[in-house]
Amino acid sequence: MSALELLDATAICAELDSVIPQLTQLEILQSVDSTNRYLSDQSHLPSGTAVFSEQQTAGKGRLGRTWISPFGCNIYLSLLWQFPIGTDLSGLSLAVGVAVIQALENYGLSHIGLKWPNDIVYAQRKLGGILVEIKAGKLIIGIGLNVQMPNMLETDITQPWIDIRTISQQTPKRNRLAGLVLRELLLMLPIFQIKGLPPFYQEWPRMDVLYGQEVNIQTTQGMQQGIAQGIDVKGNLKILINGELKSFHSGEILSTRQTFSKNS
Ligand code: BTN
Repeated sequence: MSALELLDATAICAELDSVIPQLTQLEILQSVDSTNRYLSDQSHLPSGTAVFSEQQTAGKGRLGRTWISPFGCNIYLSLLWQFPIGTDLSGLSLAVGVAVIQALENYGLSHIGLKWPNDIVYAQRKLGGILVEIKAGKLIIGIGLNVQMPNMLETDITQPWIDIRTISQQTPKRNRLAGLVLRELLLMLPIFQIKGLPPFYQEWPRMDVLYGQEVNIQTTQGMQQGIAQGIDVKGNLKILINGELKSFHSGEILSTRQTFSKNS
């Protein structure tokens, strides 16, 4: 494993250029239970506060899972954002996904995709995840990206995963990645605030790794199987099931039968 590049506020801010006014506060922690929980527990933090941590001792994943968060090798970022009351937040987590892919492309990576609702994937392996939470009226956007996972953790993660070092075959520049991701979020949020998902919806098809795939979706109503047909403008997943097009607001895609994504 190559030397650690610890997170550095100056280096991260160097990537932000025109969006710097959107960032009201930047904190870099050494260790915290969860960056999302840290933001929800603090009162009086202004909208536009971003927090990175070198490590999370109880990182949260979707659906009550744990997000494995070893020290100094990945990105764990949470951003607090206050929308005007009444803003339609449908599809926000999908717009976050589009912004993260944009950031990774700006970093120089290609063939990174999104698995609805918001897994960041490469060659059917999970590269990152997004957890958007609303706690006591605060909206918190959490992003975890595998940058340079230590090998010893391989068995702790229950699903196929990959990291940026493996994809790029180079020592990752963690501060550059952190800054580029934060930059795209700070660019996206004011646009989403006015226009909602549509500007980002247009980007979805080229990133969508499920399109045309046979999928199993687990919902509170049980498991259903069909062919994924992309998303609608609210961010619902469309699936063709027995000749009928159905829309799903939530659910988990458990498996796909084909072995290659559209982008790979
Ligand atoms: C997923 O399950 O795919 C979502 C993972 C989200 C992980 C990130 S890491 C930063 C932020 N803090 C957390 O505790 N979780 C999110």
